Amino acid sequence: MRAVTTTLKVSAVVGAMMALSGVIPVQAHGDVTPQAVDVSTLPVLGEETKKENPYRGNAEAVRIGTSAYNQNCARCHGLEAVSGGIAPDLRMLPPDAETDEYFINTVRHGRVRNGAVYMPPFEAVLQQEAIWAIRSYLDTRHEE
Ligand code: HEC
Repeated sequence: MRAVTTTLKVSAVVGAMMALSGVIPVQAHGDVTPQAVDVSTLPVLGEETKKENPYRGNAEAVRIGTSAYNQNCARCHGLEAVSGGIAPDLRMLPPDAETDEYFINTVRHGRVRNGAVYMPPFEAVLQQEAIWAIRSYLDTRHEE
């Protein structure tokens, strides 16, 4: 019992130190529930879904896309888009128009095969502005 008491005391001290220093422990792989994304600083794209990323190279889109990716995709596709093997490595997607269309369709509809959900659909959670922002972020992570 002594050891347990000591451990509890240590974690209480560590907790208090984190509280004092303002450090908040974060989850390693982002949040589990899909997160809405604030896209109010990006150009509005309207009702019709674009077929090509209108934000390619837009620094603000990359900034928003980074956090949107971490909150919605990283738990399966890996932190900084480095796949841990449970889902495809998104750094391999070519940054071209053809892949843009494939990308937005996949993200909106998810992937269901033989009734099993491999990837949930995001169309109810993420507006196209948020999806294109994520795509802009992933372009910056692209590797041949
Ligand atoms: C619950 C886990 C999970 C989450 C969350 C998830 N995905 Fe996926 N995703 C997968 C899996 C698994 C596949 C491969 C599905 C298959 O084999 O058909 C995939 C496939 C993809 C593909 C096709 C990749 C290719 O090489 O063909 C894209 C693009 C993609 N996901 C983007 C995203 C984005 C962007 C997000 C966040 C908005 C996201 N995914 C969230 C699990 C996930």
